[in-house]
Amino acid sequence: MRRDLFRSAFVLGSCVALCCLSGAHVAAAQPSDAGVVVREDFSSRGLPGQWRVVGGKWRVDGGRLVGDSGVGRGVVTFGGGSADFRFEARARFERGEESKRWFGLGVDVPASGSRPETVGVVRGGKTGFSFGEGSGEGAPVPFVGAADGEVRVRVEARGRQAVWFLDDRQVLVTSRSQASGGVALAVGGGTVSFDDVRVTRVRSSAFQRVAAAPVTVVAHRGASSVAPENTMVAQEVGRRSGAVFIENDVRLSSDRVPFLMHDTTVDRTTDGVGNLSALSAAQLRGLDAGSWFAPAFAGARIPTLAEQLADLRTRGGSLLLETKQADSIEDIATVIDVVRAENMTGRVMVQSFDPQHLRWVRALAPEIPLGLLRDKLDADPVAVSQELGLALYIPSGAALEARPGVVGDLHAAGLGVWVWTVDTAERWGRYDGYGVDGVITNRAGELNGWLSGRAAGR
Ligand code: G3P
Ligand code: CA
Repeated sequence: MRRDLFRSAFVLGSCVALCCLSGAHVAAAQPSDAGVVVREDFSSRGLPGQWRVVGGKWRVDGGRLVGDSGVGRGVVTFGGGSADFRFEARARFERGEESKRWFGLGVDVPASGSRPETVGVVRGGKTGFSFGEGSGEGAPVPFVGAADGEVRVRVEARGRQAVWFLDDRQVLVTSRSQASGGVALAVGGGTVSFDDVRVTRVRSSAFQRVAAAPVTVVAHRGASSVAPENTMVAQEVGRRSGAVFIENDVRLSSDRVPFLMHDTTVDRTTDGVGNLSALSAAQLRGLDAGSWFAPAFAGARIPTLAEQLADLRTRGGSLLLETKQADSIEDIATVIDVVRAENMTGRVMVQSFDPQHLRWVRALAPEIPLGLLRDKLDADPVAVSQELGLALYIPSGAALEARPGVVGDLHAAGLGVWVWTVDTAERWGRYDGYGVDGVITNRAGELNGWLSGRAAGR
């Protein structure tokens, strides 16, 4: 039975119960049914009453909504007005040329279908999908889903920012929305069918996981348990291990080129010596960053941040970028310039132990989400997070164990919580039980295997 609750939700306005969390040991962000404003399974024959066709042909057929673009694009709008919401749907391509067809979920589309708008767009279908933001922000994200099958799209819209997921994998962060909350489905280049469309008003962070979703897997320094840390080969292994984010450490060369390196010196992880900041880009490019780990990795180089981002942009993955060294806002600006030049602001989150680094990033690039690293909990993590405008609070596992209840406090305040650096199943289970939203690990493949096994009931 169709349940379109959008209108009544707006009448209720601020009286609508919103999704909030409180208390310790929260398993995951739980969407509240009271926040559901659209829940549509298309079991009735016609298009839902308040839905408005503003392009193409739309019909309900066989329990699915079928949109045909015709020669232009097909758009159906169904509501607006809430800045913070979750929009989910299942979709599959029915007809159309592989290279031309697409569908999208709009989070900022006026009821009339006029522009500007913000629409996340899925293309392809046969060999996988690519994902990009319709108005051009962000790079298309390669995504391997079930071939020619259905894909679940979810977008967490919070004000001007939206975080996009395909089959529960985060693929993009966008920040250009006008926050009108006008939701829409759109199709181009053929026919697409949709089912289980749901819009839920929420107040949680876009980085909080929804009920039953696994933690976000973050590959620490790439797959650094099996490949030399902070190298391109580590990144490739991390990606193939199913990590959603790659974590890195960034420092500037003597000629101000951002390179990936954890330590102050190059001594431990290359065949060179000296402080990285005292070496030029040309000198750093000549070093071997693989042999120290194992002979099989001889010849691996220290990547520049630009090389790393170009690889993520074209081959997939997001970046948890740790600013290790920044003596001034100019140093941070140099890093941000590279992220912008690579068109990757939508797929980068910046983290640091140093709150000043985060203040500088916020001043220069307010669209980039921020995470504060901690090896000891602050007395009041919520107050610190709010003062810095964080998306994520990121304590060490040991720090979190001192007061697991801070996860609930941070969730209730609208923040996400990731934990570093956790490499055993026993601790994955423990922190999952605390309700963390993401885990930074040297063993991304093993964590994904552990999550899959648990989902399968093993
Ligand atoms: O991502 C957290 C972690 O990287 C912080 O510690 O020393 O490995 O950079 P470290
Ligand atoms: Ca780090």
